[in-house]
Amino acid sequence: MSEQVTTTARPLPGAPVAEAVYAEVTDRVAALRAAGTVPALATVLVGDDPASAGYIRMKQQRAADLGFASPHLHLPADASTADLAAAIDSLNADPAVHAILVQHPIPAHLDYARALLRIDPAKDVDGLHPTSLGRLAAGLPGPVPCTPAGIEALLAFHGVPVAGRDVVVLGRGTTLGRPLAMLLAQKRATADAAVTVVHSGVPDWARHTRRADIVIAAVGVPGILCPEHIRPGAVVVGGGVRYEGRRLLPDVDEACEAVAGAITPRVGGVGPTTVAMLFRNAVELAEQATHP
Ligand SMILES: NC(=O)c1ccc[n+]([C@@H]2O[C@H](COP(=O)([O-])OP(=O)(O)OC[C@H]3O[C@@H](n4cnc5c(N)ncnc54)[C@H](OP(=O)(O)O)[C@@H]3O)[C@@H](O)[C@H]2O)c1
Repeated sequence: MSEQVTTTARPLPGAPVAEAVYAEVTDRVAALRAAGTVPALATVLVGDDPASAGYIRMKQQRAADLGFASPHLHLPADASTADLAAAIDSLNADPAVHAILVQHPIPAHLDYARALLRIDPAKDVDGLHPTSLGRLAAGLPGPVPCTPAGIEALLAFHGVPVAGRDVVVLGRGTTLGRPLAMLLAQKRATADAAVTVVHSGVPDWARHTRRADIVIAAVGVPGILCPEHIRPGAVVVGGGVRYEGRRLLPDVDEACEAVAGAITPRVGGVGPTTVAMLFRNAVELAEQATHP
């Protein structure tokens, strides 16, 4: 294979994937409503971080557009661990609430992992409760973490073959890399991959990414994945990002676009599919609560 690459990679945008998911969710919400259930996704915001407040507004608007109820609890920035636990408990106990989202990040004096543990697994819309991750590991149905689920859907939507191919996931975090590796190794037409996970404990990780058919960056270190780390023609998915103020800094160096065969755009790739999967999980939890 030639190292001389002049082509520009095919873009893999997330928006059309998200629209397809929203169309399916709209139908499922309508069916629930017709049967007398208004699906409800509750949101919890702690503090006044403008970016987090913006994400909550965006999700509430989307919830309204799709036909969900979206009760909201806003706790002050100095809320205690007990205050947050009480808020989550009240939503756990409310039969009209089917899904609970605690907006990340929460103030530093609070423990996000502990808050996630407090959520009733039957209302775990992020799919990050240990019970949900355990179900994923066991191959049982349940809410799947949104970003990994969105990446599987994105590859399938754009016709990128995954089954039988070498996928290398850079990063083993609980939100992204680890559940994604489990998901893409599952026995299913849109998965079934030979998955390798590399991380900071594998200093020569490029040895693995360079032979991969599909490389998925899930780190949060801007520009960590460069052209010399990928095989010409490989499919590249950028999942990891870091925010500096409002500026989004992706893991994937822009120059990869000249080497990859297909690549997610720097903005509008994995993000829209993540939000869409949140609503797919929410409608699924409402269906489960109604027809367990
Ligand atoms: N686009 C979206 O909608 C979306 C949604 C969720 C998450 N994300 C992003 O995805 C990224 C990962 O999230 P996460 O929660 O899974 O993160 P995380 O828990 O911080 O995991 C990061 C992983 O990257 C590895 N890593 C860090 N520096 C490295 C280096 N220099 N070389 C090789 N590996 C390195 C870490 O290795 P060790 O395990 O050895 O420490 C760890 O496995 C973050 O940027 C997050 O913002 C995006």
